[in-house]
Amino acid sequence: MNIIVFDDYEQVSRAAAEIFAKVLARKPNAVLGLATGSTPLGMYRELIRRHKKEQLSFARMTTFNLDEYIGLTPDHPQSYRRFMQENLFSQIDIPPENTHVPFGNIPNEQFDSYDTFCDYYESEIAKTGGIDVQILGIGSDGHIAFNEPGTPLDSRTHVVALTEQTIRDNARFFESIHDVPRQAITMGVGTILEARKIVLLATGKNKAEAIRGAIEEQMTDQNTASALQNHPDTTMILDHAAASLLRQKK
Ligand code: GLP
Repeated sequence: MNIIVFDDYEQVSRAAAEIFAKVLARKPNAVLGLATGSTPLGMYRELIRRHKKEQLSFARMTTFNLDEYIGLTPDHPQSYRRFMQENLFSQIDIPPENTHVPFGNIPNEQFDSYDTFCDYYESEIAKTGGIDVQILGIGSDGHIAFNEPGTPLDSRTHVVALTEQTIRDNARFFESIHDVPRQAITMGVGTILEARKIVLLATGKNKAEAIRGAIEEQMTDQNTASALQNHPDTTMILDHAAASLLRQKK
């Protein structure tokens, strides 16, 4: 694993955007794996800036998001589809049909069950030739996407029950903790590990223990980010607070 530590969130965001921009420069029809949460917002802002000021084009790119809450329609203010529309897709030149975010409102007109949808999502990713670069955040319990502790490290796209810790962490986006969905649909750890390049971003003290576990403890399904130890091209971009518990200071 390649670990880079910066002073602040802005530097982390710029460095992550630079990796994405480089992949797009080399391969304009790249397949990007995208994440939600507050951490990647700065990177999305920087990509939008580069689109507007430097003509960075996303017109041929395809995207797959990691996850979605179950029970929210795509236009719900807290759905991850809406998050992506507002914070990235509507501000760049990506054709809407090239963007994929799992559905959290199944059954719907297209899918009768989550099982059918999960198979479809996996096959859509495979059809594109696979994800070139996947961006990840990390939960305070070490989860990547919504792969909570105990999720098998070879899992594929599936439905999960969120832990109390994740529900508490994410309650800040909802009016009350009771409004946070209890389930989600998520790419599996095995799905994520197939991305050719992975970039994990973490900032703030709240992530320090999860980051230490992911990097310095033995790989375990109790911290699903630790599975990245097995991936041939993973970069973690951290700020000093997130890196503060690492034995070996970077
Ligand atoms: C959610 C998302 C994860 C994200 C995590 C951390 O659980 N499913 O993909 O990494 O939140 O979010 P934040 O970046 O807001 O700390």
